[in-house]
Amino acid sequence: MTSPNADTAAGSARRSAIEQEIDALIEEYFELEAPPADEDCPLSVPLYGADEVTGAVAALLSQNVTMGDRVREFEAAFAEAMGSRHAIMVNSGSSANLLAISVLAQKVLDGHLKPGDEIIVPAIAWSTTIAPILQLGCVPVFVDIDEDTLNMRPESIDEALSDRTRAVFPVHLLGNPVDMEPLMQRAREHGLWVVEDTCESLGTEIGGRKVGSFGDFGTYSFYFSHHITTIEGGMVVTDDPVLNDLARSLRAHGWSRDMSNRPELESANPEIDPRFLFVNVGYNLRPMETQAAFGLAQLKKLSSFNDARRVNAHRLAEALHPYSDRLRLINEQEGGRSTWFGFSVITDSPEQRVALTNHLEARNIATRPIVAGNLALQPAFSNNDHRKVGSLEVATRVGERGLFIGNHPSLTDGQIAHIAQAFRDFYDG
Ligand SMILES: Cc1ncc(COP(=O)(O)O)c(C=O)c1O
Repeated sequence: MTSPNADTAAGSARRSAIEQEIDALIEEYFELEAPPADEDCPLSVPLYGADEVTGAVAALLSQNVTMGDRVREFEAAFAEAMGSRHAIMVNSGSSANLLAISVLAQKVLDGHLKPGDEIIVPAIAWSTTIAPILQLGCVPVFVDIDEDTLNMRPESIDEALSDRTRAVFPVHLLGNPVDMEPLMQRAREHGLWVVEDTCESLGTEIGGRKVGSFGDFGTYSFYFSHHITTIEGGMVVTDDPVLNDLARSLRAHGWSRDMSNRPELESANPEIDPRFLFVNVGYNLRPMETQAAFGLAQLKKLSSFNDARRVNAHRLAEALHPYSDRLRLINEQEGGRSTWFGFSVITDSPEQRVALTNHLEARNIATRPIVAGNLALQPAFSNNDHRKVGSLEVATRVGERGLFIGNHPSLTDGQIAHIAQAFRDFYDG
């Protein structure tokens, strides 16, 4: 029910007063949070607080909740932070991958992707790096990874090329950058599209440049446990105005509304109501204003979050160094700055991995496999069209022997000490 004074000056003053009271209560609520226990080391913790909740509540109170000004503001801030011309927000990192690949399949593009075309991907990636390739009728071509960095090597493009190769989909795994300059050089030489899956590496750099900004598209995830969070959410970046336009159209139903050439499209179709002029076969992958409000607050914290992740990673590496004859750590890519999504270790054998996993989990230290091992072995992909380059033995070995533990900006000294002690107990008895 609308209050009688809703639109009056008194009504609007009362609304502002209520908003301020809510802000103060939200601040107070978060100040009451209990400190984390040293003996409990989850994979990730909530990274958001009063700023994000206040922003989301303001979006809800404004009643402008579907994609609008906040999304546009977050997109502009994100594009600037990444060094890209355009950013298009979506509702997840998986949607970002789907959108990027779908745009590249649009017939208006020269050299667009067609069914049967091959796309080079690393064997360690995420399921929804590979899924859109198959969903569009293309063929994933799995290449092996480098044991030191866990990333695909640019030279593997040479080994994977066939007369059907049209794109490469590098994945910056667990915060570590792929060596992008030589990769881009090869891609240009062979006329390949490049989509960088940056979902695990927001803010990571190589050669002083942010990953995600090298290829035709970079994709990002803002899932709860990632570098910044909008709870669920994602982004696509590109420098190309045509790819930007197509991405905006495919994100929202395939209509013309968000395209820069809208006036021309409308005058070419005068018989159709311009409010619902569908020019592409689209999806609905739109984010909400509440998510963008989170994103705006979180983006301001990204560099301090990533600094903390780097400090933690160095401390964990120091603590585990004494076991380096039995436990391999991951090397930062030369010339790059990792943002250490988790802290990965590779044990000596599959049995050691199981034993170490059980030992850590029993001490409330959460673990995960190195992403999901060699994806060519997963039924979703082994049962569908694909090609393997070589035996993919490194990806298989890393899948069988590797694990990672949580590394997040709020990891405390006490938790690092608990983790170090757990490894000491395991290796020194
Ligand atoms: C490499 C990679 N790509 C894509 C995704 C998908 O992101 P989302 O969970 O936001 O859909 C993930 C998720 O963790 C990922 O790790």
